[in-house]
Amino acid sequence: MLVTSKELATRARAGGYAVGAFNAVNMETAQSIFRAAEETRSPFILQITQTTLNYTEPEELVALVQALGKKANVPFALHLDHGRSFEVCMRFLRLGVTSLMIDGSLQPDGKTPRTWEENLAVTRKVIEVAHAMGVTVEGEIGRLGQITTEAEGEDLLTKPAEAEQFVNETGVDLLAVAIGTTHGLFKGTPFIAHDRLAEIASRVPLPLVMHGGTGVPDEAVRKAVALGIAKVNIDTQIRVAFYDAILPAVHQVEEEFATVDRQGGVRKYDIRKLLAPTREAMQGAVMDRMQVFGSVGRA
Ligand code: G3H
Ligand code: ZN
Repeated sequence: MLVTSKELATRARAGGYAVGAFNAVNMETAQSIFRAAEETRSPFILQITQTTLNYTEPEELVALVQALGKKANVPFALHLDHGRSFEVCMRFLRLGVTSLMIDGSLQPDGKTPRTWEENLAVTRKVIEVAHAMGVTVEGEIGRLGQITTEAEGEDLLTKPAEAEQFVNETGVDLLAVAIGTTHGLFKGTPFIAHDRLAEIASRVPLPLVMHGGTGVPDEAVRKAVALGIAKVNIDTQIRVAFYDAILPAVHQVEEEFATVDRQGGVRKYDIRKLLAPTREAMQGAVMDRMQVFGSVGRA
């Protein structure tokens, strides 16, 4: 059942758990996320990040997710992740997302920081249209990046007073905060600025979002959830599960082909033989995160 991420995350924050937001790029990733949620009776957010535009037409991927969603017996939101411009947000609104992130901390190039005023302006512009359509908007201030201490990360971490001001001046529904996480794998064990998170949460009663969820130790995730994180984004962990499954499958096929070739037989090709194990592995990774986030059984 398709709902907004505001509904899911608000319930999660009140219930002391978090909803996983998992990135899909194709049929198998989308199926693995839906199957994990059905198996664990967990609400979830299926998200498509803007950079997927470079791989496939969002219209095709959204149509696939909507087909899967028609059969879903658990509540889920369909979310644009890291929307970088008003135009891309509008394109996904037209596709029927129930939630979107305007990543106002960065310019559309995804690298150059936006100024405070630019972030406010673009976030407000997206909210005006999205809220008129009952669609949730996630905003972001601060910049992701691995740190070793709170002091060392001062210029990256979200500042509590700014978070409060940003929420009051934009009307966002969810706020992505920088607390020491980073996209992709960490070098060593990450330092998560829980004290900073507690200060932000004391001033911002909204559901807070953790980006860069892969590789954050389970206890650090649970502590962040207890402090107010209600949406945790996971992408790399799904990719790792895919690689961990497809590489051995490819090696096995190579061995089978070598045997067939030696025996003068005929090779048999079947794409599904390589992809089926990846779907199972990705489903396992998503279920593992749902357990840690505490969303299992909450559907
Ligand atoms: O928006 C997506 C997430 O922030 C992805 O983070 O790749 O570290 O899991 P991750
Ligand atoms: Zn992210």
